Amino acid sequence: MITLITTSIFALYPLSFQKSQIYNNYRASSLIMVTPVAHAIDVRELTKVINERILVDRISFSVTEGEVYGLLGSSGSGKTTTFRMLTGLLPPSSGSIKYFGVPFPSDSQARLIGFVTQDDSIYPSLSVMQNIEYFASIYGVEGALVKKRANTILEKMDLLDRKNSLASELSGGMRKRLNIAVSIIHDPKIIFFDEPTVGLDPAIRKSVWQIIEELNQSGKTVILTSHYMDEVERLCKKVGIMYRGKMMAKGTVDEIKKKYGIKQMEDIFSQFKAEEI
Ligand SMILES: Nc1ncnc2c1ncn2[C@@H]1O[C@H](COP(=O)(O)OP(=O)(O)OP(=O)(O)O)[C@@H](O)[C@H]1O
Ligand SMILES: [Mg+2]
Repeated sequence: MITLITTSIFALYPLSFQKSQIYNNYRASSLIMVTPVAHAIDVRELTKVINERILVDRISFSVTEGEVYGLLGSSGSGKTTTFRMLTGLLPPSSGSIKYFGVPFPSDSQARLIGFVTQDDSIYPSLSVMQNIEYFASIYGVEGALVKKRANTILEKMDLLDRKNSLASELSGGMRKRLNIAVSIIHDPKIIFFDEPTVGLDPAIRKSVWQIIEELNQSGKTVILTSHYMDEVERLCKKVGIMYRGKMMAKGTVDEIKKKYGIKQMEDIFSQFKAEEI
């Protein structure tokens, strides 16, 4: 569109000027190339086979920068296996993963991703601050920057006054928040949350939602898995629904409800089971 407008403006110049070198240089430098914007995450035909069992079966989806995307599916459908491939913990059997148009993994992507795992990643015998410093060192974040970032993140996670406590002495909600803190100390652009609120009480679940929303508002692209549809409807702009390793449906929550004629997102899971039988 912009190229077309610029081209049509050039057509207004006299023919003699249009043939000159000055005009041609000017035209070349003024034309704006309109190229499609690369997705933050682009997954094509991603597959994982272990011992001849297909755990993830040629799934494709993409996530726009700044979006919160939900990867949903009943237990054992392949969500964590997918996350492990997307974060470099498990090599795919086939398929491709690109972050901002660049094939993964590459050297430039080392600090791009943060992964808040389903189970605790933190070390119980280290203090809150020591955990932060340890994870920062893994990502090469050192010196004054660690202290500065740690203080900001611990304040955001409401853990600043517990920075000298052992991780083993924290409550479940505090441990979850420390898990998030250690996973984002390197300031990643894309953050994976695998079942971020499982086993947490309602008030703590809401505080985790707020943390995810704030991270998203500060420009982070978020991809999460969840079995809680209230969480999904509050946080996710788009979702992908897995069943037995396959991607069965993709779109906004409203689009999926409309397509399958369901009132509540919970009903989507029984839908696939029914289809299978
Ligand atoms: N390392 C492994 N070796 C063999 N099978 C595995 C391995 N990891 C996972 N699986 C199997 O792959 C399937 C998908 O597991 P995955 O953990 O990805 O599911 P999920 O969708 O995350 O489930 P949940 O909602 O319960 O966390 C399961 O049948 C699981 O037993
Ligand atoms: Mg899982």
